[in-house]
Amino acid sequence: MNIRDAQEFDLPAIVAIYNAAIPTRISTADLEPITVESRRAWFHQYNPQKRPLWVLEIDQKIAAWINLTSFYSGRPAYSATAEISIYIAPQYQRQGYGKLLVKHVIEACPRLGVTTLLAMYFDHNMGSRQLFESLGFQSAGHLSEIAVLDGQQRGLIIAIRRVEPTPLSIGE
Ligand SMILES: CC(C)(COP(=O)(O)OP(=O)(O)OC[C@H]1O[C@@H](n2cnc3c(N)ncnc32)[C@H](O)[C@@H]1OP(=O)(O)O)[C@@H](O)C(=O)NCCC(=O)NCCS
Repeated sequence: MNIRDAQEFDLPAIVAIYNAAIPTRISTADLEPITVESRRAWFHQYNPQKRPLWVLEIDQKIAAWINLTSFYSGRPAYSATAEISIYIAPQYQRQGYGKLLVKHVIEACPRLGVTTLLAMYFDHNMGSRQLFESLGFQSAGHLSEIAVLDGQQRGLIIAIRRVEPTPLSIGE
């Protein structure tokens, strides 16, 4: 098992994992499968120093991905705030990998310059709710009836977790 920076050749696997989540109507507001080509520009926004996209490899297969995106289109005053997205392939869910990856992100925050993490998930996404709450995220907002999925009104939870910046050592 290995967590590493995603490479462009991982994009088909990243997109396949995302597409597997769309029909569940629990995870994302996308309603139709996306294409690899449509995600190339998205892929190139990532930057391992500030806004990483990591993949989890298990037995040489991509089992999951997690990334950080800048909040509110990257406006400078929000530079220490980032949003987490996480997608685990169905066959690897509920085996602790979500927790492992979110912990990995939390631990990396000081070197990424992130002091506030946000997670946004539908209020009926029990897996995300449990995962993020178990790692210290707290609901900071609930936007009720903000999405329509197969004719059903759904709400969105915005959860927040602060991360202490690494203290400067004496002399820095
Ligand atoms: C939500 C998701 C990231 C959770 O990751 P995971 O690897 O399956 O979760 P873990 O095995 O690490 O479990 C973490 C906790 O959540 C709980 N959990 C996981 N899936 C759950 C579910 N479907 N219902 C209720 N609880 C669930 C686990 O029991 C565990 O609880 P604990 O901390 O009390 O032990 C994963 O299921 C996933 O990728 N789902 C589809 C995509 C998605 O919804 N992404 C989030 C979009 S915001």
